[in-house]
Amino acid sequence: SDPDPLQDFCIADLTSKVLLNGFACKPPSGITSDDFFFTGLTKEGNVTANPFGTNVTSANVVSFPGLNTLGLSMNRVDYAPGGVNIPHSHPRATELVLVLKGSLFVGFVSTANLLFSKVVNPGEIFVIPKGLVHFQYNVGKGKALAITVFNSQLPGAVLIPLTLFASKPTIPSEILAKALQIDEEVVNSIKSKFGA
Ligand code: GLV
Ligand code: MN
Repeated sequence: SDPDPLQDFCIADLTSKVLLNGFACKPPSGITSDDFFFTGLTKEGNVTANPFGTNVTSANVVSFPGLNTLGLSMNRVDYAPGGVNIPHSHPRATELVLVLKGSLFVGFVSTANLLFSKVVNPGEIFVIPKGLVHFQYNVGKGKALAITVFNSQLPGAVLIPLTLFASKPTIPSEILAKALQIDEEVVNSIKSKFGA
């Protein structure tokens, strides 16, 4: 859902001081085949680096500047057994989830607060409509692997637990206590888990 490009390509110059809706282009004279090539998704992510048991490796305009102005990007998501890709949303993109290995319980919640979910197996795909909160949970016995595809060069990710409990500065605990109908001590205990 990004705007259409106005030229064949525009390899992002991430160092440019020019600010615009996206990134400035590198001069076309220096562009080679390597600018259209990315090997960053070949390696398995470290699923033990966080308590959730998942790892997201992104091929977006920031890691792969060749995507600039082209309106799409991709992630590799690795899951330990029982790993959860925590509830989050992408403000700028619809997402397709293609499972390559294992078995994932994938779901999103609509603005009518309905949960739509499926167990997705290798070769199957599930679509997450733009902006809606979604998650994946590895329900198989072994590791799982998914490729996710976005119709934006930089979909953005709003991670719900971090948004609520680990913003800088943090949302006042009395607000969260009232919103979630829990005691402030519980709010503070959750905040401390997220390093806030
Ligand atoms: C999965 O939901 C992802 O955003 O890669
Ligand atoms: Mn997602």
